[in-house]
Amino acid sequence: MRLPLIHRRAFLASALPAFAGSAWGVEERPAPLGIPLHQEPLNFELHDLEPYLDSRTLKIHYHEHHAWHVQKLRASLDEVELSVGNVTSLMPCIMSLNRPPQVRRSILTLSVAQTKPATGVQAPLPEEVQQCIRLHGGAHINHTAFWRFLAPPDKTPLGPDGKAAQAFDEEFGTLSQFKEAFTAAAMNHSGSGWAWLVYRPDRKLVITTTRNEDNPLMKEFVDWRDYGRPILALDLWEHAYYLKYKNNRRAYIDAWWKVVNWNFVSKAHAICRGIYGH
Ligand SMILES: [Fe+2]
Repeated sequence: MRLPLIHRRAFLASALPAFAGSAWGVEERPAPLGIPLHQEPLNFELHDLEPYLDSRTLKIHYHEHHAWHVQKLRASLDEVELSVGNVTSLMPCIMSLNRPPQVRRSILTLSVAQTKPATGVQAPLPEEVQQCIRLHGGAHINHTAFWRFLAPPDKTPLGPDGKAAQAFDEEFGTLSQFKEAFTAAAMNHSGSGWAWLVYRPDRKLVITTTRNEDNPLMKEFVDWRDYGRPILALDLWEHAYYLKYKNNRRAYIDAWWKVVNWNFVSKAHAICRGIYGH
């Protein structure tokens, strides 16, 4: 099975140092666009995105909504003694993740076994842990992406540059046409979820939306045409805008365009080109 989005040695059975450096060892280097198992500090002050995104909403969104998801994810992974260097590495194959190997401690007590490696036993993750990874792991990734793609309006250019700008033109015609298409997709999405610009492994850029806290990294849960790495993310949950914009999603989206971090969009596009060898 090809897993282009994960580092194959993403897990560390922290309670099992005997396995460190083995197939269950820590990542040797951070994956590009990887996301750690904690909240990154914001790259701006809460009031920096005013008047487009208000500080009160951002404070609740970051310190309560996002923080809660990280807390729940950590608790769930702790329960199965699974620690992760890069949370994105969990996304493509949530349903086929295994528990870290468990040492048969009874064997270790035998003198004859003390000269042999510990025996590993693998088992699938419990279904409720899989569901927690999908919901809370997805939410952690989605919100981290959302923050990364925001910037104060006076500190971001008006669009992507370099190869990214060229790719936008090739796929969508103009930046305005891209914005119209992205906005239409976000407006047509019913209920909670996310809007994305995705860099697919075949180099194509596509606009899509996902329900709840799913994202385009979840190979098992998204259509193959929408699978890839996000290079722009928009939170469509009402908690992202209701305090200021009430149920006027369109007003929120129009304001959000004013604070898109185009520098990071261009950077993410360049990283994807490197990852996929384009
Ligand atoms: Fe959110």
